[in-house]
Amino acid sequence: MTTFWSLYVTVLSLGTIFALTWLLLSTRKGQRAEQTDETVGHSFDGIEEYDNPLPKWWFMLFVGTIIFALGYLALYPGLGNWKGLLPGYAYLDNDKQTPFANGQTGWTGVHEWEKEMAKSDAKFGPIFAKFAAMPIEEVAKDPQALKMGGRLFASNCSVCHGSDAKGAYGFPNLTDADWRWGGEPATIKETIMKGRHAVMPAWAEVIGEQGVADVAGFVVTKLDGRKLPEGAKADVANGEKLFAANCVACHGPQGKGTPAMGAPDLTHPGAFIYGSSFAQLQQTIRYGRQGQMPAQEQLQGNDKVHLLAAYVYSLSHGDKAADAE
Ligand code: HEC
Ligand code: HEC
Repeated sequence: MTTFWSLYVTVLSLGTIFALTWLLLSTRKGQRAEQTDETVGHSFDGIEEYDNPLPKWWFMLFVGTIIFALGYLALYPGLGNWKGLLPGYAYLDNDKQTPFANGQTGWTGVHEWEKEMAKSDAKFGPIFAKFAAMPIEEVAKDPQALKMGGRLFASNCSVCHGSDAKGAYGFPNLTDADWRWGGEPATIKETIMKGRHAVMPAWAEVIGEQGVADVAGFVVTKLDGRKLPEGAKADVANGEKLFAANCVACHGPQGKGTPAMGAPDLTHPGAFIYGSSFAQLQQTIRYGRQGQMPAQEQLQGNDKVHLLAAYVYSLSHGDKAADAE
């Protein structure tokens, strides 16, 4: 902060406090000390006001806030460039004892946060490290690990996957047996660590509007074993040809998907994330889709992701985990 703004903030803050003190004391002068029944003489809708001094407790409370404010501003960095009297980062008893490179000392919110983080790392680090050294299948059976993983999931993943992890439109269900990228423990961890970017190309330009309807008709009837809605105009035989020519490269000859590309199994309409109706399928095929799972490596680090992977794994392997015991 430049000296000008530092002075500006200081003068404004202290000036306000002194002005309020003066106001408080000056209005107190000349007032009687005892309570009386006299009124000040005006009346609003029949409500009158006694001519009494401020209650003592109220006055003392006001004085208290002024003293508190002055004490606070002396201890903490509230006045421009004043750093406060509290000891700074340089005196912390953790491994990061160095003050900031710019020589900044004194209390700051950032220092305080880093101190809290260092404390919690020191406390929970060994627990995380213990689980990180265990295989994910084992961690997935540990009640303490699942509780920690569940908390991490609630604060980092539930916005997209839902608090019950059952997914939503555009976000996959993580509790079922259908995996777009693979459900092996190591694969789940890889998905969370590195993130995933699925690319389903747009087909409208390539196979035309009728082609989109035909191939969607093929997916609905031949892959999913469902019926087309009344009046749907789709040449399923042509759709089958289009599928063989354009879709098998990613979705596989039987439409069972290719986890390495995140191309989903098209024979399980219940697991479709963009809707399974004839109209929704055409929409997906016409314009393509690009689902993105954000990478967590930088945000969470290996040990937390390990716990998250175990938690996610446990959601679809709860019964198996119990059986194995
Ligand atoms: C280059 C590989 C590739 C090709 C070729 C491809 N797809 Fe896809 N498809 C994907 C991927 C990857 C996804 C997942 C997209 C996502 O999750 O956002 C996907 C998703 C879909 C979905 C949505 C499933 C859901 O969960 O809602 C349908 C339906 C689909 N593809 C049908 C087709 C059809 C029909 C063709 C041929 C015309 C085709 N795809 C060709 C890669 C491909
Ligand atoms: C911004 C939204 C978002 C957040 C936050 C998010 N995800 Fe995802 N996640 C996605 C999307 C979208 C996909 C599907 C990508 C695709 O289309 O293939 C996905 C896919 C996945 C998959 C793969 C599912 C499969 O079928 O293979 C796993 C596992 C997963 N997420 C776990 C997590 C975990 C654990 C977290 C919390 C650390 C998390 N996700 C946070 C959006 C999100």
